[in-house]
Amino acid sequence: MQRRHFLKAAGLLAVAVPALRQAQAQTAMDHAAMGHDMGHAMPAPAPAAQGLSLPRGEHLPALQPLVNQAAEPGRFAASLRAAPVQVALWGDARQTTFWAFNDSVPGPLIELWEGDEVDIGFDNALPQPSTIHWHGMPVPPAEDGNPQDPVAPGKGRHYRYTLPPGCAGTYWYHPHPHGHTAEQAFRGLAGPIIVRSKTDPLRHLPERHLLLSDLKLAADGQIAANDMADLHDGREGQFVLINGAWQPVITLGEGERQRWRIWNASSSRIIKLALPAHEVQLVGTDGGLIGAPQPVDSVLLSPGERCELVVTGRFKPGQPAGLISQPYARGKRMHPEQEKDDTLASIVAYGMRPTLALPASLRPIAPLGAPGFRRKIVLSENMADPKAPFLINGQSYDMNRIDGTGQVGRIEEWEVIADAHMDHPFHLHGTQFQVLARTVDGIWEDEPFLAWRDTVNVPAGGMVRLRFVQTLPGLRMFHCHILEHEDRGMMAQIDFLPG
Ligand code: C2O
Ligand code: CU
Ligand code: CU
Repeated sequence: MQRRHFLKAAGLLAVAVPALRQAQAQTAMDHAAMGHDMGHAMPAPAPAAQGLSLPRGEHLPALQPLVNQAAEPGRFAASLRAAPVQVALWGDARQTTFWAFNDSVPGPLIELWEGDEVDIGFDNALPQPSTIHWHGMPVPPAEDGNPQDPVAPGKGRHYRYTLPPGCAGTYWYHPHPHGHTAEQAFRGLAGPIIVRSKTDPLRHLPERHLLLSDLKLAADGQIAANDMADLHDGREGQFVLINGAWQPVITLGEGERQRWRIWNASSSRIIKLALPAHEVQLVGTDGGLIGAPQPVDSVLLSPGERCELVVTGRFKPGQPAGLISQPYARGKRMHPEQEKDDTLASIVAYGMRPTLALPASLRPIAPLGAPGFRRKIVLSENMADPKAPFLINGQSYDMNRIDGTGQVGRIEEWEVIADAHMDHPFHLHGTQFQVLARTVDGIWEDEPFLAWRDTVNVPAGGMVRLRFVQTLPGLRMFHCHILEHEDRGMMAQIDFLPG
């Protein structure tokens, strides 16, 4: 991707060039949705002069849509090609090699509707085998990019599935090949998915999309390999990017109500998000809307997790106006923990705006009933064995070993335990679960409200109790979503047999 050419083509002023995505800064749709021209004066970008510091202060780039090629309604057809791409991060002659879907970092936004028949062609132009995993979506195992179904370099395939009713939510896609998932994701292969419902009670609100990813550069300006500390703690780079931009600027009217979908697509950061100057309600989790808006001071978003927030611009004096991450210690041994607030994005006011209504109830969630089966899942670390440092129920992942069987349609209750000095964000393929309770300082606490999730952080020494049901037969992985841990063994798989 020739960023300078691209900038010229898009007719932008060459003031701030941090974003990695390929096309224009804001789509027409976004303008319309926000009801405002956002191209007004912005804080000057910081000098990108010294070392690896990226330019910052650009408007939040819009995610590039993956264009639907299907003519008939109810169908989505498109293709994704994974390939190396050159990006001019600093807007000068220096180029950084990323691996990207359709030359876009992050990957293009896939917008689907409940009930859609989806057909996405995949071409692998990487030097490694790859797959596309549809994180969180109710997709049959054979279409879900499992490590057992690699696409060799130079080869391709189609992923085909039909979205069931009721699955509207915020998902994402990333590769899942055996042993290479972390590397392919941190080199840039990850993209957002939104599944929409015709009866969305929040469709009147303007929508913002924020995909958070992590960028670690080596001294030569290329993407750094994982070092020992990354392999142990999980990779953390110098930059947290939003839609490919470092510390972008978001506009929000005084009193304006916006719906934000946020993805944590970083390898290992557990991000404690806060907007201290504004009014914030949690309205959705991974698998879509919750029963009613929940006022929150912060949201802990572990790697792989998503949330939907309704943000109302208040600009309370004395509070930082931006989107910040607050300190959260996740038990790292080899990286320092975050000690102070970090700015992820600045927020600037653009006058008073009317405050659109926020419905008191959103989407009812019925509790899953009594379980027909129970399991205990223990996540542990064994640093004495460099070949098998991260374990589930005492074992390192083996692609050819089935770790248990289940039954389609039967409610399972799992107790997931982090018998470990680090937090391990737990993720299950193929379905959404309800968290019933978690331990806080060793004491069980019931979950205050029901929500559909596919990823939940299990803090060091903590436990989470959850229920789910699989609706499709086949092999399903579950793993830690710190991708270095997943690749190094903290994954297992259950074969769900037709009920
Ligand atoms: Cu997002 Cu098995 O992963
Ligand atoms: Cu997944
Ligand atoms: Cu882990």
